[in-house]
Amino acid sequence: MNGYVKVWKVKTGEINDLIYGHFIEHLGRCIYGGIYDKNSPKSDERGFRKDVLEAVKKIQCPILRWPGGNFVSAYHWQDGIGPLDKRPTRLNYIWGGLESNEFGTDEFIEYCKEIGAESYFAIGLGTSTLDEALSWLEYTNLDTPTEYVDLRKKYGNSVPYRVKYWGIGNEVYGDWQVGHSSANEYSEKLRQYALFMKGIDPSIKVIAVGADNPEWDLTVLKHAGKVIDYISIHQYHGSNNYYDTVASAYYVEERLQLLDSLIKHLQLDHIKIALDEWNVWYQVIPEVEIIEKKMIFLEEPYSLKDALFAAGVFFALHRKCDSVQMANLAQMVNALGMIKTNSQSIVLTPIYHVFDMFVNHTGRTRLGIEIAADRYSIKAKSFFEGQLSFQLHNVPYLDGSATYDEKRHMMCLALGNYYLDKNLEVKVDLSDLDVTKDANCFELNSSDVMDRNDFENPSRVKINSRRMTIPDRVFSLQIPAHSLSVFEFPLQTGIN
Ligand code: AHR
Ligand code: AHR
Repeated sequence: MNGYVKVWKVKTGEINDLIYGHFIEHLGRCIYGGIYDKNSPKSDERGFRKDVLEAVKKIQCPILRWPGGNFVSAYHWQDGIGPLDKRPTRLNYIWGGLESNEFGTDEFIEYCKEIGAESYFAIGLGTSTLDEALSWLEYTNLDTPTEYVDLRKKYGNSVPYRVKYWGIGNEVYGDWQVGHSSANEYSEKLRQYALFMKGIDPSIKVIAVGADNPEWDLTVLKHAGKVIDYISIHQYHGSNNYYDTVASAYYVEERLQLLDSLIKHLQLDHIKIALDEWNVWYQVIPEVEIIEKKMIFLEEPYSLKDALFAAGVFFALHRKCDSVQMANLAQMVNALGMIKTNSQSIVLTPIYHVFDMFVNHTGRTRLGIEIAADRYSIKAKSFFEGQLSFQLHNVPYLDGSATYDEKRHMMCLALGNYYLDKNLEVKVDLSDLDVTKDANCFELNSSDVMDRNDFENPSRVKINSRRMTIPDRVFSLQIPAHSLSVFEFPLQTGIN
């Protein structure tokens, strides 16, 4: 069977811009040597790598989570403020190497301002205390005549930063986490942190740690549901196997659906889901002694295969747009990064290009879409050497999303052909819409799904764009195997 797509002139949801968010952690070369490099001629006077900044701005990062991840569970924010030469150098207990604390709260806020992103702070529940969380919030958000506000002013920032998003804890359900605790212990802490933090700044939004485990998630929702605004979930997938990797996006969708049904079951409709870490990650972490200089880098060689997983996640997030209102790719640069750096230049991985296509070439209003094509069943293995295995039925070979871009008066049709080796002829029916005959087409593809970009060949996998003319509002499109395409169709009149 070939493919069939029909788009309806019906608005079916609003896609929150925050689903295109990112995450940076003090891990390997993500921050130091990634976004920040004081000694590089490639950096500006603040130490921000200019080539990285330019790439991040191009994909309009709407929200940035920091400082971890696992790292935050052993982080003390006061180490990272004030004159640089007074900041303590510490061991990075979590990922190895030294933490100079050069990049701290003020630098992070400055970075977010520069790229136009909302800042999202994660609070550790390992070695730090409620007192530290409250003083951090005071430092960033208040304008009271109090010690930490005075400190912020003393360091040159008179206007409060008004940080809106605060995550309480990171993966506290896992035994790898400093501050690992039971669901009951965590829920009690969460309630306390949320109450006191909202007590001093009621405008903040609190993100709770979900575990992608109904038992944990129900405990947290029941116990602290009233005081939280989001519950998070982390999803890492992928392997060397193509179908196992791309099918994982549909597993992510199932997990989001499950969490959503728990929220609905408890009638906690004010709580939204934040997929605040997600990516392809399947290399086994090498054994390292965590002492000075021995570090974990987690630099994954992302290929077109991994980019098609990312596209699948976005198709899922579009379908789940009512409940999933934030997502953060883990991570932005080098460590699990969609951008790679060396001292001379940067490389944009295929995953970066997927962000480019979705952020810049799709709309934020979801439209009705019908897609028909063959489907497959799979017993997939993903994550580290297949630690996670799952079975899925009805995985589509052809997936997509139709959106309305109100500003540019366009209907944007994104289509992924997930066949490894079959080009698809797709019959497209746009008869419900008054599209014009000329359209733009952007296509991400390469001859091999394992193709990737590196410093020798940074554009092996790239977006090809072209103009096209459609003969009629019902027409055929050729969608090559293992590719992502986005078509922009200008509309004669808007959609109300
Ligand atoms: O992104 C890498 C790590 O993955 C994060 O630190 C942690 O939260 C997750 O386990
Ligand atoms: O197996 C769990 C993973 O291992 C976590 O996501 C990561 O932080 C840890 O190192």
